[in-house]
Amino acid sequence: MLDKIFLTRYEDVSTVLRSRRFGTSIRHVLSRDELGWPPPDPRQADFDRFEHNHLLSNEPPVHTRLRGLVGKAFTPKRVENLRDRVTQIVDATLEELAARETFDLVHDFAEPLPVIVICELLGVDAEHRADLRAWSAAIVKLYEMEHTAEQQRAANDAVVAFSAFVRGIVAERRARPADDLITALVEVEEGGEMLTEDELIGTCILLLNAGHEATVNGTSSAIITFMRQRAHWDAFVAAAEGGPSSAFIKTAVEELLRYDTPLPCFERWVLEDTELGGTTVERGAKLALLYASANRDPRKFDSPDALDLARDPNPHVSFGLGIHFCLGAPLARLELQIALPALARRFPGLHLVDEAAPLAYGAGFVIRGVTELNVRTR
Ligand code: HEM
Repeated sequence: MLDKIFLTRYEDVSTVLRSRRFGTSIRHVLSRDELGWPPPDPRQADFDRFEHNHLLSNEPPVHTRLRGLVGKAFTPKRVENLRDRVTQIVDATLEELAARETFDLVHDFAEPLPVIVICELLGVDAEHRADLRAWSAAIVKLYEMEHTAEQQRAANDAVVAFSAFVRGIVAERRARPADDLITALVEVEEGGEMLTEDELIGTCILLLNAGHEATVNGTSSAIITFMRQRAHWDAFVAAAEGGPSSAFIKTAVEELLRYDTPLPCFERWVLEDTELGGTTVERGAKLALLYASANRDPRKFDSPDALDLARDPNPHVSFGLGIHFCLGAPLARLELQIALPALARRFPGLHLVDEAAPLAYGAGFVIRGVTELNVRTR
């Protein structure tokens, strides 16, 4: 049996994501012995405990319960309430950059907004934002297909520090509730069910990580796309004058996420022997779903390699599909629909500092993006 089966076609990817014959975990179906796995690695025991307690690595019925509870606290209304604050943060960031001739788009523009927003949403003080970024960067290294022993150690250490930090805030909110998402998660109840302490910690860490990593990359990748296809940037600049809710801005953001997918690959286990795309896949096999490839499948999208900012409908899988569909998609969309047009309005003449220089992509295959992007404003 192959170590991993790669799925590239839209139909296969969407079939897997919508079917309960596949899952992000398999341990609820088969024991370690049945899977022929060695005992758990004690060097990442804390990381494994975190993984065991959040949405992404659980399947029904645990996932259903968790998603119900977290979704009740992290509502679309809570996201919509952030609209003015998002605009304010973007404007302040651009104001600071106004006098600069060059800046690093990743560090100076793409990163601040999602990090500030997710911290404020959950109720994390500004002084801890740098810790959060470092912990998150260390943790997500273990989601990649390969990692070193040093990365494993760093990720486990980051989970230990991050958990202690979140545990402290949770204890504070239990004593003194505040108007933030951590308090809402502490208090949320449905049908007599509440989040356990481990689930609370796991959920907060997941939200803090997922709440900024992909949005940072989505922003910088969108600008790379625009800088390479100038006519589309010029069209976007013209539309940006119409404000963030113009229909074109919305379709453009979806198309940018399809065209360069921030999270190009997620995995699923096969939970029972089944047929997929005319091939039998065995229980216990691992599938790598190439979302970026599905997003360019000519069987699903007309002219898939062309950027069409008005593409509609645009059934991309950049936010996934099925029960694990991105819980933060409304927030990510809000941030991108406000940030990208604001940047276009402020710096219509934006250019890469060095058009010929190779782009500084990080090593990630699961989380894809550049580590810096030097631009000039005029
Ligand atoms: C452009 C930005 C974003 C992209 C491209 C993105 C993409 C994704 C994808 C593809 C999944 C599904 C993974 C799978 O199929 O296994 C997912 C799940 C998730 N995302 Fe996002 N995401 C983004 C932003 C956010 C934000 C801002 C938040 C939180 C504030 C967030 C929170 C989550 C959570 C909690 C899940 C797990 C849902 C579940 O398992 O039920 N994401 N995201």
